[in-house]
Amino acid sequence: MTPSIAVVGSGVMGTNHARVLKQLGLLSAVVDVDAERARELGAKFHVPSFTNLGDIPAGGADGVIISTPTATHYDLARASLEVGYHVLVEKPVTGSISSATKLAELARTRDLTCCAGFIERFNPVVQECHDLIRRGHLGRIVTLSSRRVGNYPTRIRDVGVILDLAIHDIDVMRYLVGSKITEIASFTGSVHHPTHEDHANILLRFSNGPLGSVEVNWLTPMKLRTLSLTGLEKAVQVDYMDQLLEISRSTFLGDSHGDLYRPQWQVERMQHKSKYTEPLVGELLDFAAAVQDGKAPLIPMTDAIESLKAALISIEAGQSRQIITVE
Ligand SMILES: NC(=O)c1ccc[n+]([C@@H]2O[C@H](COP(=O)([O-])OP(=O)(O)OC[C@H]3O[C@@H](n4cnc5c(N)ncnc54)[C@H](O)[C@@H]3O)[C@@H](O)[C@H]2O)c1
Repeated sequence: MTPSIAVVGSGVMGTNHARVLKQLGLLSAVVDVDAERARELGAKFHVPSFTNLGDIPAGGADGVIISTPTATHYDLARASLEVGYHVLVEKPVTGSISSATKLAELARTRDLTCCAGFIERFNPVVQECHDLIRRGHLGRIVTLSSRRVGNYPTRIRDVGVILDLAIHDIDVMRYLVGSKITEIASFTGSVHHPTHEDHANILLRFSNGPLGSVEVNWLTPMKLRTLSLTGLEKAVQVDYMDQLLEISRSTFLGDSHGDLYRPQWQVERMQHKSKYTEPLVGELLDFAAAVQDGKAPLIPMTDAIESLKAALISIEAGQSRQIITVE
């Protein structure tokens, strides 16, 4: 039986969830405290709309997507699990480790799926990097460096750029490296945001050796989402938006040319552009399979909590100007 899924929060991200769920034939309802917004979105996709999660009639949904501001995630996800819905919560799952842990525990005791919306995990370039690393094609990974920058999002008021953007890169790096973060340093600042950081440079050390560097801001006039990996055999450049991957390796030509300004290395580059795939489709199919067949989701709460923890420590490291050891 096809699962039915409701979207709670009909803003920017909720509209995208509703659009893709509709395409997949899975959308059953939309909810927003703003009645006009809920009504408009419901009318657009021909599904009932509600102003309160509790108004969805019995049997009206098997699962819900929580795509409201972060500060509301815990209450809405808890209420959903208590009704008996499987839940996908947008990143960051909550604002604290204790509330995220409570959700994970509640889902476990009710035998329901609770997972996180880290959309980049479903970007084909991330999956390709993951395969290249697992198959040993890049050699041992030494560094990972990401940039996720762009304009100021006026609607996001309750979290800073680390919980909004850097958490994506922290999560991708954790996934690719496959080990725990042991130390975090961070420099943060605010140019425009009244209460939170709007730019940050974060350094991560992973337990199996690699170092990560994450640059995020809401200040750069154009949107960039990139990742560079250096392995001992090959390097990879990733563009998340173009879904473009470039693999490079070099061969030493010898040092007999006698010209210090001529490269002594021959560099080979291979570009790989996959057929464009909307990552949100993969994320929602993964959730639907968890709802329908009990399949383990790609990003369970244990993972979401680890990435949240690293993001919260990055904020603390920026404020305290200390390198923090992650327990
Ligand atoms: N994965 C991604 O790439 C990505 C991108 C953008 C946003 N997000 C996440 O999605 C979430 C929403 O962000 P957004 O940009 O869509 O925000 P938004 O402000 O555009 O929309 C939020 C909506 O939630 C509604 N809302 C608030 N409280 C509610 C409640 N208690 N019940 C029902 N509706 C409520 C608001 O009226 C608003 O329409 C955030 O957690 C954000 O981090 C994720």
